[in-house]
Amino acid sequence: MYYIGVDLGTSAVKLILMDKEGNVVKTVSREYPLYFPKPGWSEQNPSDWYENAVEGIKELTDGVDAAQVAGISFGGQMHGLVILDKDNEVIRPAILWNDGRTTKECEYLNNTIGKDKIAEYTANIAFAGFTAPKILWLRENEPENFKKISKIMLPKDYLAYKMTGVHCTDVSDASGMLLFDVKNRCWSKEMLDICGIDENCMAKVFESYECVGNLTKEAAQCMGLTENVKVIAGAGDNAAAAVGTGTVGDGKCNISLGTSGTIFISSDKFGVDDNNALHSFDHADGHFHLMGCMLSAASCNKWWMDEIIGTKDYGKEQEPITDDKLGENNVYYLPYLMGERSPHNNPDARALFIGMSMDTTRADMTQAVLEGVAFAMRDCYEIAKDLGINITETKICGGGAKSPLWRKIMANVLNINVNIIESEEGPGLGGAMLAAVACGEYASVQEAADKIVKVIGTEKPDPALAAKYDKKYAKFKEIYPTVKGLYDTLKA
Ligand code: XUL
Repeated sequence: MYYIGVDLGTSAVKLILMDKEGNVVKTVSREYPLYFPKPGWSEQNPSDWYENAVEGIKELTDGVDAAQVAGISFGGQMHGLVILDKDNEVIRPAILWNDGRTTKECEYLNNTIGKDKIAEYTANIAFAGFTAPKILWLRENEPENFKKISKIMLPKDYLAYKMTGVHCTDVSDASGMLLFDVKNRCWSKEMLDICGIDENCMAKVFESYECVGNLTKEAAQCMGLTENVKVIAGAGDNAAAAVGTGTVGDGKCNISLGTSGTIFISSDKFGVDDNNALHSFDHADGHFHLMGCMLSAASCNKWWMDEIIGTKDYGKEQEPITDDKLGENNVYYLPYLMGERSPHNNPDARALFIGMSMDTTRADMTQAVLEGVAFAMRDCYEIAKDLGINITETKICGGGAKSPLWRKIMANVLNINVNIIESEEGPGLGGAMLAAVACGEYASVQEAADKIVKVIGTEKPDPALAAKYDKKYAKFKEIYPTVKGLYDTLKA
C-alpha cells in the first residue's frame, strides 16, 4: 500500500508518496503565490492550496495503481486563519502565520485580558501570528466579513475539508490558534468567548493519527483515486516534521530550517515555561512539545540569494566560505525580515546587517546570513537550556538542512551534535507516516518513527570553533536590544 504526505508550505505544496516500509517513492512540489498586501502582512488564497494539492497528487500517483493508495495526511503551515461562510465559500484570503498586523490585538490579549489568564486557558500567550488575535483584528477591521463566519479552519484543514466534507482539525495545529486548551486537548470556552466565536464554528478535534473520513466521490474523481482512500487529520508542519525526523517520545529535539525556523522539543508530559517564551503545544504522537519559532530562517537565505544578489546557485555562493572563515566573520545579520516571534515577540522588528567595512565581500555577507539565522536559533535554544532541558543532539530538516555548510554552522553555534537523516522532507514524510499509522501499518507513531527514520550521519561541533562562536553569539545578542527602540521610529 502507498501513503501520501502533503506538506502544505508557505512557498509550495510538497507531496511525497511513501510505501508501507516507509520508503519515499516519489516527490512532487508545486509553488503558489504569497501576497504581502501591506508591509508585514502575509496572505494566500486557499483555492491555490487545494488546486495545487490536487494537481500534485495526480502527478504523484501517475502510473500507480489507484487501489494501492490507502491514505492521505498532512503537515500544514500553522496558525493561518481560513474562514468560510454559510455556503462553505472562502470569505477572504487566509491570513498567515508570518503576518504581523495584530500588534494591537496581542496587546489587548496579553495586557488587558492578561498573560496569566490567557496562559491559564491555552498554555500560551498571544503572538502576532497566532489565530485568535487575527479573529479580533477581523472583528474590528472587517466586521462584515466577521459576521459571515460559519466555519473557522487552519490551512491544512481546508484541504481535509475539501477532500472529505468533514470540518476537522488535529490537536497539534489547534494548539497554535490560542483558542485551544492544550493541556486538556479541547477548545477553550473562555477564549472563544473573548473572541466572540460560537463553538459551532470550530472544527471537530482529532489526534493527528486519527482518520477523519474518506475521500468524497468528487474529490476522488478529481485526483484519480478511489473513495476508499482514508484522510487522516495530520499535524501542524512542525509536529509533522518532528514525526518525520523521529522526534517523538520524551526529550528529543528537531530543528527545522524552512521558511520559518523552529526548535522543537518533544515531551511526555505537559509543561509551560514561566515566561511563555516557548510555545507549549500538543504533539502528533499523543503527547506534548515545546517550541521556539523564528519567522524567517531559510527564507533569509532565499531572499538574499534571489532578491538581492540575484542568483539561484546557492551552493556556488557558499563555496568561498571555507572552514578557516568560520568563526572569523565580522559582519552580523539580524534575521527579522517578517518581524520576530521567539524570543523577542516583536512584529515590528526588521532585518539588519552590521559590521561591514571596505574589505567585506559578498561571501562574508552570505556567511552572515547563515550565521545570523543560527544565532537567532540559539536565542531559542538558550531558553530551553534555562528551563533545565538538556539537549545534546538534534535532528535537522527543511530546505536549509540540505546545505552541509549551514548544518556545520548550526552544530557549532549551538554546540550540539546535529544528526542528518535520510529524508529531510520532514512534514511530508511525517504526514505520510501518520496516514500509515491510522491505516494500521504501524501500531503507534513511535513504532513508525523507530522503523522508518534513519540517521545517516552526524555533524559534530569542533570545540575550538564552538568557543569562537560563543564569543560571536555574545556580540550578536547585544544587537537587538541596542536597535529595538529604532524599530518604533522606523515604523512611524
Ligand atoms: C510555527 C510557525 C511556523 C509555520 C510555518 O509556530 O508559525 O513554523 O508553521 O509553516
